[in-house]
Amino acid sequence: MALLDVQGDVARQAADELTAKGAEAVGLEVDVRDRTAVEAAMDEVRTALGPIEIAVTSAGVDADGAFTAISQEAWERVLAINLTGTFHCLQATVPDMLAAG
Ligand SMILES: NC(=O)c1ccc[n+]([C@@H]2O[C@H](COP(=O)([O-])OP(=O)(O)OC[C@H]3O[C@@H](n4cnc5c(N)ncnc54)[C@H](O)[C@@H]3O)[C@@H](O)[C@H]2O)c1
Repeated sequence: MALLDVQGDVARQAADELTAKGAEAVGLEVDVRDRTAVEAAMDEVRTALGPIEIAVTSAGVDADGAFTAISQEAWERVLAINLTGTFHCLQATVPDMLAAG
């Protein structure tokens, strides 16, 4: 299992906890908005654990405050992480699943 998060320390700590319980886990720091970084991280995952069989895309943020007060900048951050980040992560992993049938 690979845990990817922009908070690299959090991802590594969670992976360490899983490893201590007998799982095979790695934690990596990645910002899902960065396509190049996502692809590099998935390559690290393949090297460590083999082809990717399942992807769970849960990196996400909310825009704080009342809907009517959300700035365009905050809205675009939500879209970049929650939507485009999911797109990047799935385009970087789904080919493994297709190749495996
Ligand atoms: N928790 C719920 O019950 C629930 C229900 C419905 C929808 N959601 C949505 O699911 C998403 C995640 O919710 P959660 O409760 O797990 O939130 P969370 O804050 O516990 O976890 C989100 C994780 O995403 C990471 N993250 C933020 N920006 C990132 C980036 N650019 N690249 C990589 N990682 C990044 C954060 O560091 C954090 O660890 C949110 O969009 C939330 O609105 C949550």
